[in-house]
Amino acid sequence: RTIAVVLAGGTGQRIGLEIPKQLLKIAGKPILEHTLHVFENAPDVDEVILLMTPAYVDEAQRIVDRAGLGKVTRVLAGGSDRSETTRIAIRAAAGDLGPGEDCNLLFHDAVRPLLSQRVVKECVEALENYQAVDVAIPSSDTVIVTRTHGDDGEFITEVPDRSRLRRGQTPQGFRLSTIRAAYERAEHDPSFQATDDCSVVVRYLPDVPVHVVRGDEYNMKVTQPVDVFIADKLFQLASHTAPAQAGEAAYREQLAGRTVLVFGG
Ligand code: CTP
Repeated sequence: RTIAVVLAGGTGQRIGLEIPKQLLKIAGKPILEHTLHVFENAPDVDEVILLMTPAYVDEAQRIVDRAGLGKVTRVLAGGSDRSETTRIAIRAAAGDLGPGEDCNLLFHDAVRPLLSQRVVKECVEALENYQAVDVAIPSSDTVIVTRTHGDDGEFITEVPDRSRLRRGQTPQGFRLSTIRAAYERAEHDPSFQATDDCSVVVRYLPDVPVHVVRGDEYNMKVTQPVDVFIADKLFQLASHTAPAQAGEAAYREQLAGRTVLVFGG
């Protein structure tokens, strides 16, 4: 059994709008609704748990009801940071299991509405062999590590070999027992901090291999103001296809020379 956990508990500080960014409309629908549709349409996903910014739980429930998203069994209030939201989801999913039972959890950022069915499928398949699965793509940019020196600003301390660097996306998939054990250990660490869930397994369960599934350039995270424009463009280009396939369809159209993306034009 596979449960998708859609993490929508944030407020979107970096975009800086009055409403959480997952409620912004892109291609006529809230970003959150596009994301929920991907899991609703995923044959390998049995159930969806949605974690929403506390003040917007009712709004999220209305979106679910209006769109007729039958796989969403619960809309719960998220926590004070992403990890806290994950913990709430783990408790909710674990509460349904009988003794000795386990299941798969796929944690996904609500603000990645262009997730493809291919990635969802490969994550679920990988969980047949591995207890933890990440999704990542190569880094086009050279990534540098810096240190701040007082008022003088930042300076490079390291330039890691780009060929080994990957940009982490979501979903991140786990056996529930594995991610629960990782978070239980993290609770005893006063210096705990994480912006994703695989890093919690890597840090607290170092013997568990985390398999990496090939991600997708289109599976972008709407984070900065410019991302709203880019995501909207991708949906527009592929408006004749299902949202889940929008990214890949846009790519194929570009290859065929039928459309040209003009950013900032
Ligand atoms: N998230 C969450 N609970 C939180 C914080 C974040 O479920 N307390 C979710 C966000 O809603 C988002 C995903 O985690 O779908 C990725 O986080 P990020 O892009 O950082 O979202 P925000 O925290 O909303 O953005 P910002 O950091 O700019 O405030």
